[in-house]
Amino acid sequence: MAAASAVMCRGILVIMAVIMLTSKASADPDLLQDICVADLTSDVRLNGFACKSNVTAEDFFFAGLAKPGVVNNSVGSLVNAANVMRIPGLNTLGVSLSRVDYAPGGLNPPHTHPRATEIVFVLEGEIDVGFITTANVLFSKTIKKGEVFVFPRGLVHFQRNNGKVAAAAIAAFNSQLPGTQSIAATLFAASPPVPDNVLTKAFQVGTKEIEKIKSKLAPKK
Ligand code: GLV
Ligand code: MN
Repeated sequence: MAAASAVMCRGILVIMAVIMLTSKASADPDLLQDICVADLTSDVRLNGFACKSNVTAEDFFFAGLAKPGVVNNSVGSLVNAANVMRIPGLNTLGVSLSRVDYAPGGLNPPHTHPRATEIVFVLEGEIDVGFITTANVLFSKTIKKGEVFVFPRGLVHFQRNNGKVAAAAIAAFNSQLPGTQSIAATLFAASPPVPDNVLTKAFQVGTKEIEKIKSKLAPKK
């Protein structure tokens, strides 16, 4: 009996340790003071930004998500980020937002956020959303105004507006600077370029096809 309860106790301790470890690893580190408004002009880089003096309410304010962004690119979507680079007061707080606007048929192309889980809330319209696990399983769904969907940290995900009218969403992140790695741009528009022979082998196609994609994704001069 005593042995059984000792095993149970040990089990509970192990579960608690795993929960503590995973919850620590799943977001930005905890803050050590009330505020640490980012000094974006400082060369000092810690795990985040150095704190500035002369803080005002403006350091915690951003009006840039109030209006729809102008979508005039080839993918038909625009992400407007409200992260620490735009709101210095977010430094050390472990949260940020984005607004995404989608033209009809617009796509927010497959990408990952290395430092954050994301949760999207549909402001207007209807979007098809999906993420792919490391076991290559796609989880996808159509979500509409007022609904939310979660993209787990680090997993490749996308959104597409299959409707006939514009759509918009707010995305929240558990990082002051989630980072975005767009799959197509990462592989085909890196600087210096990823060698063609890496991409031909990876995608099992010829150099011509790789060069064609590279030329389409090259940054506009
Ligand atoms: C949407 O996926 C975003 O990263 O803003
Ligand atoms: Mn995202």
